[in-house]
Amino acid sequence: MIQALRGMKDLLSPSSEKYIYFVENCSKIARNYGFEYIETPILEETALFKRSVGESSDIVGKEMYQFTDKGGNDVCMRPEGTAGVVRAFIQQKYDKAKVQKKFFYYGPMFRYERPQKGRLREFHQFGVESFNQSNIKEDASIILMLKEMLDFFGIGYRLELNSLGCSECMPAYREKLVEFLKGEDGICEDCKRRRDTNPIRVLDCKNQRCQDIYINAPLLIDNLCPTCRGDFAKLKEILDGFEVKYIVNPKLVRGLDYYNKTAFEFVSDDIGAQSAIAGGGRYDKLVEYLDGKPTSGIGFAMGIERLMELIVMPESKRVGYYVGALCDEASEPCFELAIKMRKTQKTALNYDKKSLKAHLKNADKQNVRYCICIGEDELAKDKIWIKDLQDKKERLISRDELLG
Ligand code: HAM
Repeated sequence: MIQALRGMKDLLSPSSEKYIYFVENCSKIARNYGFEYIETPILEETALFKRSVGESSDIVGKEMYQFTDKGGNDVCMRPEGTAGVVRAFIQQKYDKAKVQKKFFYYGPMFRYERPQKGRLREFHQFGVESFNQSNIKEDASIILMLKEMLDFFGIGYRLELNSLGCSECMPAYREKLVEFLKGEDGICEDCKRRRDTNPIRVLDCKNQRCQDIYINAPLLIDNLCPTCRGDFAKLKEILDGFEVKYIVNPKLVRGLDYYNKTAFEFVSDDIGAQSAIAGGGRYDKLVEYLDGKPTSGIGFAMGIERLMELIVMPESKRVGYYVGALCDEASEPCFELAIKMRKTQKTALNYDKKSLKAHLKNADKQNVRYCICIGEDELAKDKIWIKDLQDKKERLISRDELLG
């Protein structure tokens, strides 16, 4: 029997209903904040991710679904959404026009990771990207929007915040860190590799021995330039003003290479080891890295599967109708009636003749409000039998009354 690939899942009801409930409500909130929907292709040139997410990241180094297509192109299933949106922004020449643009998106992402609870190879993200808004208020606004989305679904979280500095302060800090790491031979092989490729990535190494060593490492937060320091202070002040709780985690570096200044992660303690439910930050150099004109950017993405673990759907109300025939002759009238009713309301139809009891049971399973049945009696009287499954009342009505 052919099964879905490891780390990939079918999405069926009730999870599929939850998925729609989630993306619809997040879309509504994103629109309130001025974001518009964007959809970019799942398949992109591999170079796009190498140049944005970065060669030193695990995503590009180990986890890409990369292959050569029939035309000999090196392509890749997107591991995340930001790179594609930035490519589209440049392709539309919005960078040259210097327009402020805000996009939201959702859909599947692919990372060849070791599957476990909360970690899939095909997973779904809801993300937003905002361009040409370098004001720190935009960072605050993005975090407030994400908080609003999580609050809407009643999801508890811990917000971790850091500043990764800019091209002014980051290089000098990097030198300091490399200098520190030179004397530390006890670090793991991964960190030795990171020391040469992207040293700040050592800071979020999961190895406890490394972390013991990094207790004494210099921290970027203590080495920010006055602008970055001022902006970070302002961001915290705005969040305090809105009573958003956060903790500053100076070792939060994010797993993608394009970030500068604000970086943040929303973490949940209720879903096991894979606890990051959303992450994001600023990427003011990314448009340039991808050959666009200098344009600031900031965004985030949420992991929908991880959030779905935490969302409790509101009790669904009975809606719509179920139509069933009690004799063979009623099958055709039932079919015609249901097709008409479907123009205006949800109408489930059973093609087969069944007993009243069986139809009522089916109607209940479909969670409809009314069960309609037509049998010999109803045909003779030219009436329709209808039962309200909520107040349990039943009666005979005419077609005209039903179709309004
Ligand atoms: P990310 O932190 O790599 O950021 O992913 C965002 C979220 O996607 C994570 O917090 C997690 O909830 C979910 N996620 C990641 N990998 C998996 C997986 N294998 N299985 C299930 N869920 C997963 C980004 O992707 C950036 N593009 C976010 C961003 C947008 N930054 C700026 N704009």
